[in-house]
Amino acid sequence: MIQAAIEALLRQKIGLDALTIGSNTIARAVNRRMADCGLTDANVYWTKLQTSAPELEELIETVVIPETWFFRDREPFVFLRHYVLLEWLPKNPAKTLRVLSLPCSTGEEPFSIAIALLEAGLNPINFSIDAADISKVALKKAQRGVYGKNSFRDKNLDFRDRYFTELAGNLYQLNDLVRGKVNFIQGNILDNSFLVNQIPYDVIFCRNVLIYFDDAGRSHTVQLLNRLFKRTGLLFLGHSESGQKLPNQFIAVRHSLAFAYRKIDIPDSTQVQVKQEQTKINSTRIREYKRAENTDKVRNNKFSSVNSKPSTSPEKYPREAGNSQILSVRAIAPAAHPSNSASADLDTARRLADRGQLQEAAKLCETYLSQNRTNADAYVLLGQVYQATGDRQQAEQSFQKATYLKPDHYEGLIHLALLKEERGDIAGAAIVRRRIQRIEK
Ligand SMILES: C[S@@+](CC[C@H](N)C(=O)[O-])C[C@H]1O[C@@H](n2cnc3c(N)ncnc32)[C@H](O)[C@@H]1O
Repeated sequence: MIQAAIEALLRQKIGLDALTIGSNTIARAVNRRMADCGLTDANVYWTKLQTSAPELEELIETVVIPETWFFRDREPFVFLRHYVLLEWLPKNPAKTLRVLSLPCSTGEEPFSIAIALLEAGLNPINFSIDAADISKVALKKAQRGVYGKNSFRDKNLDFRDRYFTELAGNLYQLNDLVRGKVNFIQGNILDNSFLVNQIPYDVIFCRNVLIYFDDAGRSHTVQLLNRLFKRTGLLFLGHSESGQKLPNQFIAVRHSLAFAYRKIDIPDSTQVQVKQEQTKINSTRIREYKRAENTDKVRNNKFSSVNSKPSTSPEKYPREAGNSQILSVRAIAPAAHPSNSASADLDTARRLADRGQLQEAAKLCETYLSQNRTNADAYVLLGQVYQATGDRQQAEQSFQKATYLKPDHYEGLIHLALLKEERGDIAGAAIVRRRIQRIEK
């Protein structure tokens, strides 16, 4: 009875759906709080909870899940970096990119964003990051910027050498440049006054919180996100939140494992318009490569004035291989004359890749290619899948084969040039670029 009432209160105040963390977890949190308050009678605690805002705050602190780590899921940060370099910066060379990390927990996410942007070559004065969470305890830790091994779960820890100082006891202190780039805000997503006077954002990370919310909490959050954006923007959700229903203005970005959505500018958001816009976006992304030349100039200029340890080389960003330049996996045209079942295999491989089932997708592509050895599209798909798994070498070989089989394969050439550039083969990339230019004429 009291348990149900407390669960209802938590649902109403912070959107928590008790089923997501389990009633037992909530019961344990309540027992802990009762012990801390020196109470043994649940009825007395329930009365206290309803009348004491600080006690409600304490209980909330006990039930929230602050689980997070640096560069969690990696690909969202890869996509962010490329979005900034290839799209945002060329259009807004003198503007400030506004980013929100919501919720930010103990700070690993917003600090990862700051590092990703610095490594993209953005001048620190050209971006600002707000980071909000309900938990005062988590925010206090975030502001200290001292982290232990649980915060470093990604395999690639090169960034730790560059931005942290090792302290005693396996702890690491984040440097002042990165710490200074994040502005922490305490607040409850469900409060109507939350972030109400904020200047709109260009990019919002809202990861791994909707999974804990009930329907009303999720739909409130989606409305909030819509309001916090400018007319356009880029939204990142957590990997288990990618099925979240979003307004029509939000279009899924087809970058495997990034779980990103573009908010596009459509005053009257009908499905028809969305589809048209989506087509436009896909072809725009295929043209992204053209803009990269300009971007390189901007990036190099910015780098010299930004930070002493810029990292554009692939060695310093190895796992970013991901699928950095994956255009739409589905944008690849179907195979030339495959048998029906083989063609179905390739479609299945694309779908698996889109869903992030990369090993299975790679296997299917290889099987397909063993029966259709001259299919350039299949090699491009396989290359994209390898890229998403971080295997640049295999990816490059696949793109190489695709462009050997079909010398004017535009996507294949784009991927090949970018991979060559990323591993420092500037001469090789230049040759491929010239082939691309010939196609574009
Ligand atoms: C699992 S962490 C996610 C952190 C980060 N976004 C990530 O993906 O690594 C969830 C965070 O949501 C916060 N949270 C839960 N309910 C909230 C609410 N109603 N308003 C603001 N923050 C909330 C918790 O305090 C916790 O720090």
